[in-house]
This record gives sequence, C-alpha cells and structure tokens, in this order.
Amino acid sequence: MSTAGVAHGELRSAQHEGSGMQVLLQVSDPHFGTERPPVLEALVRLAHAQRPDWLLLSGDITQRATEAQFAAASAFVQRLQVPRLLALPGNHDIPLWHLPLRLLRPYARYQAAFGNSLEPEFESADLLLLAVNTTRWWRHQDGQLSAAQVQRVADRLADSTRARPVQRRVVMVHQPVAVALPQDIPDRLHGHAAALEQWGRAGVDLIVGGHIHRPFVLRLPHGGWAVQAGTAVSRRVRPEAGNSVNVIRIDFTAAERATVERWDHDPVHDAFVQRQVHHLRRA
Ligand SMILES: [Fe+2]
Repeated sequence: MSTAGVAHGELRSAQHEGSGMQVLLQVSDPHFGTERPPVLEALVRLAHAQRPDWLLLSGDITQRATEAQFAAASAFVQRLQVPRLLALPGNHDIPLWHLPLRLLRPYARYQAAFGNSLEPEFESADLLLLAVNTTRWWRHQDGQLSAAQVQRVADRLADSTRARPVQRRVVMVHQPVAVALPQDIPDRLHGHAAALEQWGRAGVDLIVGGHIHRPFVLRLPHGGWAVQAGTAVSRRVRPEAGNSVNVIRIDFTAAERATVERWDHDPVHDAFVQRQVHHLRRA
C-alpha cells in the first residue's frame, strides 16, 4: 500500500484508473483495542467486493495509542487491499497516560505505523485530497484548526478551483467541522467557522471527518458538504448508530460532485449493507 505521495510499494495499481471514476472508502474511528472481530471480517469482505481506489482513515485508529493496537490496525489495513491510503491521527492516537510520550513525541507510535506525515496530501488531474491534523497533545478530546492551517488549505483549494475546475476537492479532518444535532455542538472543531467560510468560498467539495461516531451528510453554508462517518468496527457505538463506513464515488464525467453511500453493519446478516445514498450536486 502507498500512503499519499509516499510510495511504499503498491499492492496493485489503482482499481479504477483511467475509467473516469474513483471510489474512496472512508473508515473512521475503528478504535483498535475495542474492535469487534466479526465486523472486521465483514469490512474486509466489503472492501474486496467494492475494490476502492483509496482508503480514507479519518482518525481514532486506536483506543489508547499502544504499539499493539497500532500493529493490529496496520495489519488490518493491509488486509483490506486498498491500493492507496490517506490517514490522519485522532485524539485517541496520542498516548494518554504515558506523559513523556504525550508531551515530547505524541505522534511517534502513530508515525511508526502510518508514516511520518501528519498531513498527507495527494493531487492528480482529477482529485485533490488534503488531510489536516486537528489533534493537539494539550487537548484531551477537542480538535483545533489553526489560522495557518485554514489559510494553507484555502490557498490550495483556490488554486485547484482556478486551474482545474473539474478536480474534486476533498479535505479530511478528525473532529467535525459541522454537526447535525445540538448535543454534538461542543464536539465541533475550534476554528470551524473560519474553515467553513474560507474553504467553502475556495471551492471545497467534501470535508470528511469522524470523532462523534454519528454518520451524516450536511450541505455547508458557504459551499461543499460535511461527510461524517460512524465508527467502522468499534464496540463504542451509539444506541442509535451502529458500525458504518462511507463509500464515496466520484464520477469525473458527471455533473454531481460525488455520491456518498453509507454502509451499515447489519448484525443479523453479518454484512455491511447500503443504507443511504446522497447525490451531492452544487446548487
Ligand atoms: Fe476522536
């Protein structure tokens, strides 16, 4: 598998290359250490059936950032056999109790498993993927976007919009930029308002995130959509939302910017099943 921009020896070439279509599988908040083994197996089957080009891993990959949990997560990601990976740490991927590590090298274990870059990116003629690290070692759960991060991403988006209007522009964060329910408002990113305004005006299409284990798609006020995923495989589910992942299909020849499919794990059939489809069209 290759991480974005860094070749690690690809398992196979991109699945849909040259077809005018790209498929992105968003797996969020697996919280390895609390994973459900049957759901892992169901997700392997889904990935092998859907053959996505990209795996978007939007943070909280582990429960407590132990080496064993990162090793299990890394081995599982290999089993999905997705050719390309864009990964991002979540607040759970920084050691909580090991204070020297938390203060001095908070991302050492994450980086050993998923590569040095905390903000990987990828750009082709059709696709721009930008990951933004929203974790901070001094915050426990909250996430943050600095003014510099907001500006840097806005500049990249604006360049893309100007030079390559057809390009689909996807930004990945861990904590959400927008929420659907009042009780989730405290979980929004610090700095979300500036990001929504600047990234929306600069032409962002999707801002994908996780953290709150609640899947939804929201149209954003200045342009683009928030695409949130539930927890993919963890038993840390909400009563109203089980395990789920998003399958994002981008047809570069279509008028719509993307189609987002929510796939829920159905315990009765022990399989991920498609539950919702959002066609994202600009107004
Ligand atoms: Fe989180």
